[in-house]
Amino acid sequence: MKKSARKAIIAGNWKMNKTATEAAQLIDELIPAVAGADCEVVICTPFTSLVTAVEKTKGTNIHVGAENVHFEKSGAFTGEISADMLVDLGVEYVITGHSERRQYFAETDETVNKRTKAALEAGLKVIVCVGESLAQREQGVTEELVRMQTKIALQGVTAEEMSRVIIAYEPVWAIGTGRTATADQAQEVCVAIRKVIGELYGEVVAEATTVQYGGSMNAKNADELLGKLDVDGGLIGGASLKAPDFGAIVAAASK
Ligand code: 13P
Repeated sequence: MKKSARKAIIAGNWKMNKTATEAAQLIDELIPAVAGADCEVVICTPFTSLVTAVEKTKGTNIHVGAENVHFEKSGAFTGEISADMLVDLGVEYVITGHSERRQYFAETDETVNKRTKAALEAGLKVIVCVGESLAQREQGVTEELVRMQTKIALQGVTAEEMSRVIIAYEPVWAIGTGRTATADQAQEVCVAIRKVIGELYGEVVAEATTVQYGGSMNAKNADELLGKLDVDGGLIGGASLKAPDFGAIVAAASK
């Protein structure tokens, strides 16, 4: 599979897993597992593993991301990490708007927008997560909800900056549940996201933007999900913590 117009990106979201020592071990296993990739490979690690990850991946095809970023540049925000701090470490990517941040840490569409803009201003590439809950899917509002999340997250983001924005469609009901969206469901929502990007920025930007799927993607179902025309990659949780599984997903995206 090759979607010539845009870059396929497979990104691991390690969530709150791995000490820095364990991260070093996993990265040693990941480097050979993804060495032959014909897609962009990213690992998003906890803040405490970022220095290790940046050091260990130098000279490899693995890019490093953080899982969150604060929107202020500096100041009295105890426990927070700024975009400049990430850039200074050599971090290239950051995730914003993950549903776990929305659910457990009171993230709103507005703060997701502020984090996204702050990260872009600092020069980071941003993986913006959107996705509906099970109740919202059952209420038939998936498309409206995802359109709204995408639009608000991108308020004030320029067309030029969109070259550093990736949207990850992550249905909340599929995260960590082993219950994957069908390839058709993933395709349908990824198309809706591309459509809203087209309305905001025009066709050229929409066609160039990477739209990922995330939610129980694994070595077994990756082929089918990534085979869909508008699914340009994956944001992988559990399976990104096992080098052979992550390697298999990267291989599926490289076809
Ligand atoms: P799982 O792959 O564990 O379902 O997690 C998906 C996810 O939330 C990635 O950000």
